[in-house]
Amino acid sequence: MAQTLSQPPMPKRRASEAPSIDTMLEEYLSKLEQKVLTQTMQLQAITDNASSCLFLIDDLGRATFMNPSAQRITGYALEEIHDQPLHRVLHPKHADGEPADRCWISLALEKFRLVRDREDVFYRKDGTAFPASCSVAPLEREGHPWGAVLEFQDITQRKELERQKDDFIGVASHELKTPVTSMKTYTQVLQRQFQQRGDIKAVESLTKINAQIERLSALISDLLDVTRIQTGNLSFQTEEFSLVTLIEEITETMQLTTDRHHLEVDLSGQSSVRADRDRTGQVLINLISNAIKYSPHSDRIIIRAQSGASEVMVSVQDFGIGIPAEKQDQVFERFSRISGPRMETFPGLGLGLYISAQIIRRLGGRIWVDSAEGQGSTFYFTLPLATTATVKRPADATGKEEG
Ligand SMILES: Nc1ncnc2c1ncn2[C@@H]1O[C@H](COP(=O)(O)OP(=O)(O)O)[C@@H](O)[C@H]1O
Ligand SMILES: [Mg+2]
Repeated sequence: MAQTLSQPPMPKRRASEAPSIDTMLEEYLSKLEQKVLTQTMQLQAITDNASSCLFLIDDLGRATFMNPSAQRITGYALEEIHDQPLHRVLHPKHADGEPADRCWISLALEKFRLVRDREDVFYRKDGTAFPASCSVAPLEREGHPWGAVLEFQDITQRKELERQKDDFIGVASHELKTPVTSMKTYTQVLQRQFQQRGDIKAVESLTKINAQIERLSALISDLLDVTRIQTGNLSFQTEEFSLVTLIEEITETMQLTTDRHHLEVDLSGQSSVRADRDRTGQVLINLISNAIKYSPHSDRIIIRAQSGASEVMVSVQDFGIGIPAEKQDQVFERFSRISGPRMETFPGLGLGLYISAQIIRRLGGRIWVDSAEGQGSTFYFTLPLATTATVKRPADATGKEEG
């Protein structure tokens, strides 16, 4: 768009008929007019035919332009909405019906933040909701914000496919659970029988089979947890317990799973928390097993716990492969596995950190990572101390406060 207008080109004429200033100016203006017309037509062709909804927003968040797709999908005409902030029109409440005071549009305007492909729920004129994937680009002129461009697509179909996939994962993992449980029982029975007969070779083989069944059963249980999280059915049994004691117990068990690594603990004070003990243990197991898995060439893993005034902070540090800075945000997402030439050898579904993050958020804590590629990673989480703890509802734990 930002084409510079150069000096008017001198028309070719014979020396005898030198043009007057007026004629030159007229020619220049006519060319300028043609240029503006062409550009306007191009712009209109693009916005008219774009399948995305496009809005231009002024510095007060009001729409000053919307394309035909935006009219078709929202049901509004520009005249109906141009005098109020677009956020209030499209995003008056969150998906759960709670009033929304901010969304990606307001964030872009207030914080001048570029937002790309964020999912949200928008509302049509008839009051019905639809899922949208939106991008907002703040606009500036000479260093001053003057509005934003909002672009979004209705992603109802994509969401429906995602729902079908989630349903399938839920049903499949549920169906897999029963045969695996009975395989486990029969293996244990056989193991006992062979032990009584003194058949050491058979016992050894069965121990190996058992270990593989345990792995399979852990994968299924992760898939079931994901389904529970998606459907808001991850249940929590809260009790008061010592986090330090839990860390000691889990470290001891995890130490048995590795010959190479030495798990060091550095725990200060007795931190009493009010949370779900098993779920907290699950987070610790996930973090420690990752630390073991992703540090095949080093032997130190340090687990620390430190209490502050209102919360306790736990960290698991390894000196392994680390995570590239630009990928660190992704590791807590569902099915997220960092790819790379060195990563193919590590098995996994990319669910452990997603489940851990959901658990910690529900327990009122925070989780994050600090890592340098090739040097190692430290995963941190906090939990409120027993005196301050409350377990959040699933809806509160989805990161809604950002949107
Ligand atoms: N301690 C770690 N060091 C390096 N990378 C890690 C570490 N923990 C997790 N990751 C990266 O984050 C991804 C997600 O972890 P997770 O959810 O536990 O899934 P999984 O271990 O099954 O792949 C992993 O695939 C890996 O790329
Ligand atoms: Mg893992």
